[in-house]
Amino acid sequence: MTGQVRGVQLARLLGQWHALPGRRRSPDYAALAGAVRGLLADGRLPLGVRLPAERELAEALRISRTTVTAAYRHLRETGHLASRRGAGSWTMLPGNHRVASTGLWTPLDDRDMIDLGAAAPAAPPQLLGAARAAAEDLPRYLGGAGYHPTGIIELREAVAAGYTARGLPTSADQIMVTSGTQHALDLVLRLALAPGGSVLVESPTYPNALAALAGRRARITTHGLAADADGWDSDLLLGSLRQTRPKLAYLIPEFQNPTGHLMPAALRERVVAAAHAVGTDLVVDESFVDLPLDGTELPPPVAVYDRHSRVISIGGMSKPYWGGLRIGWVRAAAPQVQRLAAVRVGVDMASPVLDQLVAVHLLAHADTIVTDRRITLAAQRDALLDALAQRLPDWRVTVPRGGVTLWAELDGPVSSALARAAEEVGVRLAPGPRFGLDGTLERFLRLPFTLPAADLVEAVGRIAAVRYDLDRAGRQRWREPAVIA
Ligand SMILES: Cc1ncc(COP(=O)(O)O)c(C=O)c1O
Repeated sequence: MTGQVRGVQLARLLGQWHALPGRRRSPDYAALAGAVRGLLADGRLPLGVRLPAERELAEALRISRTTVTAAYRHLRETGHLASRRGAGSWTMLPGNHRVASTGLWTPLDDRDMIDLGAAAPAAPPQLLGAARAAAEDLPRYLGGAGYHPTGIIELREAVAAGYTARGLPTSADQIMVTSGTQHALDLVLRLALAPGGSVLVESPTYPNALAALAGRRARITTHGLAADADGWDSDLLLGSLRQTRPKLAYLIPEFQNPTGHLMPAALRERVVAAAHAVGTDLVVDESFVDLPLDGTELPPPVAVYDRHSRVISIGGMSKPYWGGLRIGWVRAAAPQVQRLAAVRVGVDMASPVLDQLVAVHLLAHADTIVTDRRITLAAQRDALLDALAQRLPDWRVTVPRGGVTLWAELDGPVSSALARAAEEVGVRLAPGPRFGLDGTLERFLRLPFTLPAADLVEAVGRIAAVRYDLDRAGRQRWREPAVIA
């Protein structure tokens, strides 16, 4: 249980529920139930929360209690509400769904849904071969206990070689293998941030990073990124560092999630210098560094400019290879890696040896796999951009030069309403507010281009249809005669 939501709070969350698409075709109770389902789907209404009593909600919404009773009954029938006589009603999801810590729900068997909520590609065809080769390698490890808190040496060497090839000389003892980049972030926060410590993040930013920071009860300040190609405003970013002197700053300099921005070399150098001057550690998330598109040249890694062990880089296999592998890493000074390993044994001891071996084999074929990945992503991005230009020409997008997402500026503050409506037509979206802290960013929507082009085009068609429905519903509302006294 996460508590109770009061009638006025739920009414505020529901907003213009009566004006959602399809409203004119469905009775009030069904529209209300649909709006509550939408709030659950996009995580604005948590699971396990107690809904207001029927009378209280009816008063807050200024509708009849019978309508609320019918809506609650409907929600119970669809598996979105559990009620106990005399105790109340709690939100839930139908049996086959679960909810991640950020409130994003993960479909287990919903095959008809086009899922634009996740920005991660399917596995490359080489994965099976790599898994077979890894199984053949496994006997070399079976004689030992299998715990390698910093990772197996072969993988650490391969990851270190990747950094060295990018112009950042790195040895295997500067690498710690983790179970994904998210795990790397969590471990770094455990090591480098006392509970309640101050952190600067970009806004918008990666929602699960915010979840990790919430886990440390971090005090967060934000640097707002521009929606256009520039992204970071150098003076503002350096000014925030100097004024707020955070303990940590979390940055995604390569094809930032969600905006797709690429931080220029000059700013990288200045950020590292400013961070050192004010005593801030930089956590640099390089999740998308392998995915420049259209031959875009990458600036040097942020850590190239670091002479004082201020920069901790994290990265992983999920975007260039496969998220299901759960392999990530930290690159830091060797003593920091040892300290991280000491923290790690209190968490999960070590990453699975077999998965690390799979990663070694994939990295050995990085050239082919990642080149193919980039070609596919560029084609999918272009298909998405074309579909948007045709079906939603009022939306503004900056063409990302890499990564897997674009950040669309909508033609109104409708992102959450749109996500709710899209869910009804089989498209899952991550609305703009998910990428911020305070419920703003309603004018923005992240669109990943990790699905096949045909799915993206179909999804844009469905989104466009509900977008215009929202407008029609909105106009109808405005045409209602106002009472003049
Ligand atoms: C910026 C960023 N960091 C971390 C992650 C999590 O990656 P992993 O699957 O390696 O834990 C993601 C995944 O979307 C991401 O976009």
